[in-house]
Amino acid sequence: MRSASVNSSSPTDQSSPLPQLSIRNVSKVFPGKRGLFNKLSGKTSRDFVAIEDISLEIEPNTFVSIIGPSGCGKSTLLNMIAGLSSISEGDILLNGAPITGPGPDRGMVFQSYALMPWMTVEENLRFAVETVDPTLSTKGANRIIKEYIQLVGLTGAERKHPHELSGGMRQRVGIARALAINPQILLMDEPFGALDALTRGFLQDEVERIWEQQRKTVIMITHSIDEALLLSDRIVMMTRGPAARVDEVLEVPFPRPRNRETIEQHPAYHALKAEMESHLFRETRAVEEARMSR
Ligand SMILES: Nc1ncnc2c1ncn2[C@@H]1O[C@H](COP(=O)(O)OP(=O)(O)O)[C@@H](O)[C@H]1O
Ligand SMILES: [Mg+2]
Repeated sequence: MRSASVNSSSPTDQSSPLPQLSIRNVSKVFPGKRGLFNKLSGKTSRDFVAIEDISLEIEPNTFVSIIGPSGCGKSTLLNMIAGLSSISEGDILLNGAPITGPGPDRGMVFQSYALMPWMTVEENLRFAVETVDPTLSTKGANRIIKEYIQLVGLTGAERKHPHELSGGMRQRVGIARALAINPQILLMDEPFGALDALTRGFLQDEVERIWEQQRKTVIMITHSIDEALLLSDRIVMMTRGPAARVDEVLEVPFPRPRNRETIEQHPAYHALKAEMESHLFRETRAVEEARMSR
C-alpha cells in the first residue's frame, strides 16, 4: 500500500511507465539579506533552507496530492515545478528536459483564482488560449472556449465578469482556463482553500468528474485529508520545515470513478485516513512546539 521510498520505480522496471515529471534531489534556499545596505543598517539575515533534497517521480495520468503542515514548502515546490521559482539545487525534468521557466505544458490553478477582473469569463479563457497559440483562428479559439466552459459547468455565464460570480464559479473559470491551454500537467495550489465547505464539496466532485474525462496528470496541494483521499492516486506527505522533506508517499487504491460514499466502504480507507491524520498532527504539533520555545 505504501512505498517507503519515493523513487519506487527503478529505470529497469519495464512494467512501470516512464516518469513524466522527475524531481531529483531538489532543494530550495531563500537567500538571506547580506548586501552592503543591510550590513550598514544591521538588518542582515541568514539563508533559509525551505526544502531539502526532495525526489519524486510522477508517471503520466496520475493525480498526486501534496499535504503537509502550513509553511512547510508546498507552494515553493509547486512554484518550482511551474517554473515560477528558481531551483537552488537538483533538477526537475518534464519528459526528460529540465524545467527552466513557465510554459504552456503546465497549467496553474491558484487559490486566489487570479482572473483578469476586467475581462468576462469568455475573455479570460480567450486570453489564455490565444497567448499560448497566437496562430489559432477565432473559430478555433471559440470552439475550445465553448468546450471548456461546458466542461466546468459554466454555460450561460460566458459574458459575466468575475465580480458577478460566486467563489465556486470563479474557481471553475480558473480550472477551465488552466485546462483550455491543454497542458500536460495541471498544477493546483489549494484550489478550494478559499471556498465554503459546501461549495468545496461540489467542486471536489466536479474535479473528480473532469479528471475521469481528461485523465491529465495533476499535482494538487491541499490541507484536506478527505479531498486528497477522494481525488488522488498518490499522496505525498511532507515534513515540517525548515529543510522540509518528503516523509512518505501513500498509494490510494480506491477504484474509479469515485465518490465519497464508495471510498469510505473501501477496506483501506480508514487506515489511510488514520495514517494521514497522525502525520499531520505530529508535524503540526512539532511546528507549534518549536514556535513556543523560541
Ligand atoms: N520569497 C520568499 N523569501 C523567503 N522565504 C520564503 C519565500 N517564500 C516562502 N518562503 C518561506 O519558505 C517556507 C515555505 O513556504 P511555502 O512554500 O509558502 O509553504 P506552504 O505552501 O507549505 O504553506 C516558509 O517558511 C516561508 O516563509
Ligand atoms: Mg502554500
